[in-house]
Amino acid sequence: MLQDRYGNPVSTRSQGAIDKYNAALELIRLYRGDPIAALDAALEEDPNFTMAWAARAGVLVQQTDKAYLGEIDRSLKAGQALPGNERERAHLAAAQAWARGHMDDSVSKYARIAQNNPTDLFAVQTAHVGCFFTGRQQELRDGPLQALRAFKRDDDGYHALLGMAAFGLEECGDYARAEALGTEAVSLDPRDAWAIHAVAHVHEMRGDVERGVPWLRDSAQDWSPENGFAFHNWWHLALLHLDRGDAKSAITMYDTKVRPNADATAILECIDASALLWRLHLEGVGTGNRFAKLAACWESRIEDGHYAFNDLHAIMAFLGAGRRKDAERVLTAMRCAAMKTDDNAYMSRAVGIPLCEAFLAFDMGRFAETVEKIAAVRGIAQRFGGSHAQRDILSLTVLHAALRAGLKPTAEAFASERVAHKPESPWARNLAERARKLVAA
Ligand SMILES: [Fe+2]
Repeated sequence: MLQDRYGNPVSTRSQGAIDKYNAALELIRLYRGDPIAALDAALEEDPNFTMAWAARAGVLVQQTDKAYLGEIDRSLKAGQALPGNERERAHLAAAQAWARGHMDDSVSKYARIAQNNPTDLFAVQTAHVGCFFTGRQQELRDGPLQALRAFKRDDDGYHALLGMAAFGLEECGDYARAEALGTEAVSLDPRDAWAIHAVAHVHEMRGDVERGVPWLRDSAQDWSPENGFAFHNWWHLALLHLDRGDAKSAITMYDTKVRPNADATAILECIDASALLWRLHLEGVGTGNRFAKLAACWESRIEDGHYAFNDLHAIMAFLGAGRRKDAERVLTAMRCAAMKTDDNAYMSRAVGIPLCEAFLAFDMGRFAETVEKIAAVRGIAQRFGGSHAQRDILSLTVLHAALRAGLKPTAEAFASERVAHKPESPWARNLAERARKLVAA
């Protein structure tokens, strides 16, 4: 029986197919190139390659985009019609659970595959990404740490495990170990955009612009070319510019790196674009027609109600573009989605809807209501996924709302928290100064 590049048995008997599948696996762990095209090339060699179909579905579910459901279904049906070994069939079942909206069950299934097959880096990675989307922070850290037992430093893919462990450690607040493991991963493979990203998060959480800016800027030639994740690392660099109080550089970064194609509709890119423009909007920085262009890219998702985290970012774009009615349509779709029985229904009920109501209230000038609604769910907001850095949009919005509502003690409290986390951030110190000078309403 043939094996993949990590030593996991696969059901294909075509060496050509396994060669192309192995190439896809490297792209997947590096977020480089087009892994779906690479998997399609493997399936062209052997259309009966069960694991390639399973991987195709597994990569597509991670996009959190309703638009891919048809292709996911096609991949699952093709794979399920074939014989396959136990691991391959488990992969199909895990991807199917995600596609059916049962993300938590899917993550548990991928994690079990990884525990039983610790060299299955694709299972480790998909579980890791799933933990990110479902707010399972400890497992985000512990899954990769568990799999490290099957790897030695020189083994193929070891850097990717270190990078994943680094990100999980960061999300659990263990910044020193996160930085050490992430830096080691990058030294093993400088193209590892996820490991670069893990260390960028450490700098972001500390507000350490002096180290964070050069960390990303000076390594970009390694992780940026042909990388489908590069836009997100550029977004992190833009955030560090904002922390420095340099909105002009953040906008330049938006135009040239985060959003080089203003018409692109890839949902993960639209999320970062919304989040960056909203930060600028909070600060009253003019963003020209950027919100309008971005809102046009969200338009086809208004009725989706597919993933609450995405919906909140769609609402930011519509509000920024002055399209409140469309923001309200997103909220209506979320309320419908909340009545279902899948994981997104829970996420929408517990976190997504209150936050979207809070952002709409902000747009209507009802700032005290924004404060109440965000403060009520900010502490459990990981339940609708994302990273601490992404959910920082909640902390910034609640602070700005408190400032505008004239809620002096509230604003001072949120601002003090921020400076405690980011003592070196000029933006955080500036916000604290504004809270201190605030005249209570
Ligand atoms: Fe990030």
